[in-house]
Amino acid sequence: MNRITSAAEYKKTYKASVDNPEKFWATQAKTFKWKKKWKKVLDWDFRKPDVKWFVGGKLNITENCLDRHLKKRGDQTALIWEPNDPSRPYKSYTYKALHKEVCKFANALKKNGIKKGDRICFYMPMVPELAIGVLACARIGAIHSVVFAGFSATALADRIKDATCKMVICSDYNSRGAKNIPVKKVVDEALKKGCKSVKTVIVHENTGDKVTMKRGRDKWWHNVTKDQKGNCKPTVMDSEDELFILYTSGSTGKPKGVVHTCGGYMVYTSYSFKNVFAYEDNDVYWCTADIGWITGHSYIIYGPLLSGATTIMSEGVPTYPDAGRFWHICEKHKVNQFYTAPTAIRALMAQGDHWPSHYDLSNLKVLGTVGEPINEEAWQWYNKFIGKGKCPIVDTWWQTETGGIMISPIPNALKTKPCYATHPLPGIQPCLVTPEGKEIKKKKAEGLLCIKYPWPSMIRTTYGDHERCRQVYFSAFDNMYFTGDGARRDSDGSYRIIGRVDDVINVSGHRIGTAEVENAINEHDNIIESAVVGYPHAIKGQGIYAYVITDGKVKDKAKFKKELDAVVRKFIGPIAKPDKVQLVSGLPKTRSGKIMRRILRKIASGDTKNLGDISTLLNPDVVKEVIKGKV
Ligand code: PRX
Repeated sequence: MNRITSAAEYKKTYKASVDNPEKFWATQAKTFKWKKKWKKVLDWDFRKPDVKWFVGGKLNITENCLDRHLKKRGDQTALIWEPNDPSRPYKSYTYKALHKEVCKFANALKKNGIKKGDRICFYMPMVPELAIGVLACARIGAIHSVVFAGFSATALADRIKDATCKMVICSDYNSRGAKNIPVKKVVDEALKKGCKSVKTVIVHENTGDKVTMKRGRDKWWHNVTKDQKGNCKPTVMDSEDELFILYTSGSTGKPKGVVHTCGGYMVYTSYSFKNVFAYEDNDVYWCTADIGWITGHSYIIYGPLLSGATTIMSEGVPTYPDAGRFWHICEKHKVNQFYTAPTAIRALMAQGDHWPSHYDLSNLKVLGTVGEPINEEAWQWYNKFIGKGKCPIVDTWWQTETGGIMISPIPNALKTKPCYATHPLPGIQPCLVTPEGKEIKKKKAEGLLCIKYPWPSMIRTTYGDHERCRQVYFSAFDNMYFTGDGARRDSDGSYRIIGRVDDVINVSGHRIGTAEVENAINEHDNIIESAVVGYPHAIKGQGIYAYVITDGKVKDKAKFKKELDAVVRKFIGPIAKPDKVQLVSGLPKTRSGKIMRRILRKIASGDTKNLGDISTLLNPDVVKEVIKGKV
């Protein structure tokens, strides 16, 4: 697999990838071990959508993540795990050891009735068993659905039911900063909400604190793996067999299960990993994301392991026990590539410039960001205090649906530019379109970001509802994938992502649907109606602003705010708690009764001068009141 190392090479490679995508991806795919070669590289029709890569090819992704490396790098470290508490020892697994653990757990899954195609839900903190479990599923062709362990029992139950999971794998507790958060208890609660498909719960002992085990259903991880063999034949999968489901939020309705398949995802995550992070043999790479999100799937587990890398996963939070924790880990493991979210950078920047100066960061070569736009101030700080001006910053734009990084600088090949994700990776054909669906050909332009040609790791369907996939991503513009983002393009063809143009807000890099938050808020007894919008937030990127109409019985506003937090926690999780709540007597609506979110967004952002024409509203008077009551 080629790694691009110069501007000329990028230009040449990009051109080749667009002129003959099939040839280009076939070349990349040859790096891997296939049980049977594909008959055709690509079959596609965006209108259905129906996209197939490496058609007829047979493989197992874990054979490529693990077995393939055993001969050359069996004793090399594959995975390092840093615990929440720095006084506890870290763990590391060589490729050999990881292979063995994955096989043992894969055998345990089989012993517990799991077969190819079964869905397994993971609800776990960042412990090595999460990575091992996910790979064990892939080993035997079971489909993993990892749910971020910060979601509530209701949200977890919704996801378990949607995918009709047969098994849930969890931990007893989650050590996060100074907190010890119950995990198994949340699973117990979720399973009381009609998750009839779940037959078994496997519980990993993390902190050892007390949990209740249900006889016949719940089993300890250490017991089920105890007598298993360290060898498990990988199940042969079709390129287009499902690898995993990952739920993500959209503008409307409940979160949808984005489905990724084996062959294309394997090729693309590895290709993008090597190129974007300029990964070289023996480098140590660390991505601080949680495996509950796509970044953790593609760039903690699959991309790095497919590339024979040493990948770190960490349990803790950036500020525990202090704001030097990240830099301490970088020093301790001599990290070469470091990948995090702008929110974390802003939070650490706010703690003072001296924190990184206590640590030796000289091994760093590449710094990355993901999940939200990075503002110039944070970019400059990252560059100066962490990269010491010598590490390219790769601002990587992509999505759960894209499976891998789509637009990003490539170290030493594509220049970095603050706030710009810059150029598409080879094989990626982005374009800007007008709201009417016309592609904007002029280089310097602003528009809706679409992708006009398939790439190997793209979404195949939304689990159990293919029509929803078509409707959300492929119906807005003919023959294109619509990202939901707006972007600007410079005269040099460099892209700057502006942000979501739909009703999705990005809070600390977490994607939250406003409709979901509204539905949760509306569960409160005193709420008549609500409207939720995003507004600029200094640390989180965007904050959640809720406008609520109550039944007039709310007396204590502080208490009421706490109650709203509690309902949101109950239905979604703490990440979706509103930062600001404003009580209003009405919401600006069109004559057909639609809430004018555009106006609410502007007011929440403090931009009350450019509200546009409000005279056509059903209730223009309410706007003045909303402005006056802004919190
Ligand atoms: O709005 C974009 C933003 O995050 C959204 C995707 O969120 P999610 O599926 O949770 O995946 C996040 C991790 C890949 C996008 O639609 N986003 C992601 N990366 C960037 C970004 N916005 C600006 N710059 C980025 N680098």
